[in-house]
Amino acid sequence: MRHLLSIADLSKTEAISILDTAVELARISDGTVKKLPTLRGRTIVNLFAEDSTRTRISFEAAAKRLSADVINFSAKGSSLSKGESLKDTALTLQAMGADAVVIRHGASGAPQRLADSEWMQGSVINAGDGTHEHPSQALLDAFTIRKHLGKGAPDLHGIKVAIVGDVLHSRVARSNVLLLNLLGAKVTLVAPPTLLPVGVDSWPVNISYNFDEVVASVDVVMMLRVQQERMTDLFFPNAREYSRYFGLNADRLSTMSPTSIVMHPGPMNRGLEISADVADSARSVIVEQVANGVSVRMAILYVLLAGQPLEVGGK
Ligand code: NCD
Repeated sequence: MRHLLSIADLSKTEAISILDTAVELARISDGTVKKLPTLRGRTIVNLFAEDSTRTRISFEAAAKRLSADVINFSAKGSSLSKGESLKDTALTLQAMGADAVVIRHGASGAPQRLADSEWMQGSVINAGDGTHEHPSQALLDAFTIRKHLGKGAPDLHGIKVAIVGDVLHSRVARSNVLLLNLLGAKVTLVAPPTLLPVGVDSWPVNISYNFDEVVASVDVVMMLRVQQERMTDLFFPNAREYSRYFGLNADRLSTMSPTSIVMHPGPMNRGLEISADVADSARSVIVEQVANGVSVRMAILYVLLAGQPLEVGGK
């Protein structure tokens, strides 16, 4: 494995080995010495051409815990905002000796373009491209689900997951549908018809327009942010209507199974897709997703740059 561009590039065995490696790395990170020497002397560039908080700092923390040198490069304050092309940016990164580039970009396919090019030799990791994919988010979500509901199994066989809300604009939903399906979970998408993409009928999912009919029967409710910045049309009548039919509030939470969990990739629109009390409730694993993100991204960097999964049970 040289790049991580899409969940579609992973076999089930590769996905599970990233999750297992993350478990081992989390165990080490819980110790007093958080840092491993594994990637000492390697350079990782975070190239963020679109805004991000948690994904960028998560990759930065992951790289630093593996002792890599990290260069942060964001659109604001760089020549990207002056219209520099991806090619010229990539040539600069190559000249600086980047071993890996973690790229977030507004254009779907930008990471693939970089990986396919001759412009730079390093590994390319997709940290979210347009509305296409966000594979590291799906892996950290799978890690979190497995930890809570996996009962020791390596995969997510039979676990029922509802992904709710703005599927149309969500790269998180696309990567999660692929990975959850690969790992044997059963996915139901819940959204108004206007927020489902064309072609969704061919995805390996069930589809529902009625949240109340789904919420009580699933093990995981994964809420999606309403991505107002990507909305050029009116996709629902108003925020109140949206919350009433597709928001997760305390009433809906009370109908969920007692062992079920609530997830959200962040950033949240509190009061729109999720109420503040639900976001902060004992059933919510949203903050834990962020913490797990660091271990999972360490595992991704480890597998790509150190070249092998960490031996389970090893030191
Ligand atoms: C997601 C993203 O950027 O795709 N956030 C994240 O990476 N934590 C989801 C979103 O922006 O809604």
